[in-house]
Amino acid sequence: MFFRFQNVGTVASAVRPSAARLYGGEAPRLKTLRTITEMRAASREARHSGKRLGFVPTMGALHQGHLSLVRAARQATDVVAASIFVNPTQFGPNEDLAKYPRSFERDCELLEKEGVEWLFAPSVEEMYPSGAVTWVLVEELSNKLDGRSRPGHFRGVTTVVSKLFHIVAPDLAFFGQKDAAQAAIIRRMVLDLNLPVEITVCPIVREPDGLAMSSRNAYLDPEQRRRALVLHRSLTRVQELIDQGEVSATVLASHGRKEFAAEPSVRLDYFEVVNPDTLDPIEDISNGALIAVAAYIGSTRLIDNLLVKR
Ligand code: PAJ
Repeated sequence: MFFRFQNVGTVASAVRPSAARLYGGEAPRLKTLRTITEMRAASREARHSGKRLGFVPTMGALHQGHLSLVRAARQATDVVAASIFVNPTQFGPNEDLAKYPRSFERDCELLEKEGVEWLFAPSVEEMYPSGAVTWVLVEELSNKLDGRSRPGHFRGVTTVVSKLFHIVAPDLAFFGQKDAAQAAIIRRMVLDLNLPVEITVCPIVREPDGLAMSSRNAYLDPEQRRRALVLHRSLTRVQELIDQGEVSATVLASHGRKEFAAEPSVRLDYFEVVNPDTLDPIEDISNGALIAVAAYIGSTRLIDNLLVKR
């Protein structure tokens, strides 16, 4: 077998040392910071005491996927900050901003258990004072994959993430491979703007049956939840073919799409084989590939992908 796959397996939740043990005593208490001034002061404090600051930006409704990023941050840095901010600028006018799942109290408990020191949870007014007209746009990449189906989405993501980077000023920031296009766009933004932050992209965390964890899975009723498995099934099928030596993007994509034909109630948005950095379509996967899929189950849009290493 030629290619290695990082992310189509189920990630078993390993038994982990408690935050208290890791910190050699009491786990730090989570401090929730609501203002930019408070977050800046906390970050400055960490830097002045020579600590490396890790940062995990989220929109809350936390699950094991988010927590895997927190654990990676804790392993790699001395102090961890997370953010919860449901960023309005990355939602389209007919998208789910108003009903996006929120579970702030529970999220705080989870973050504290994981040893997160600071939670930046600003209001919309704090992040977007009235009159704000400045955007960060990663051209070319932002209209590919999800950016094509969700116009303006990545402009909202890159704007808020660059604001968060300026406010939190982390040494390292952690993102999930689950949102592969987002990760590629943020890596490009950091490169293009010389932002002093190192980006780490962590593997996809899945439910035991293979469904990629997502805050949006909460929208699915039991029947839709069953149908949603077609995303993972399509990628598993493609993985089998690659294991058998198939390198043609056209052949792989057509087999992936065929899985959706057998599940007509699920509307395929895209099934694409692209370069993982540029997100441009490629013809064969010999030099590595991102195989990405998005589909609607009812009105819920889910994404998944598999990264084929060079
Ligand atoms: P959110 O959807 O809350 O995701 C926060 C981070 O968790 C992202 O980096 C995402 O890729 C990662 N993540 C989500 N599900 C995952 C899974 N199953 N396995 C591994 N990682 C997973 O992505 C956003 O928020 C926003 O766009 C944000 C970057 C916070 C900007 O608003």
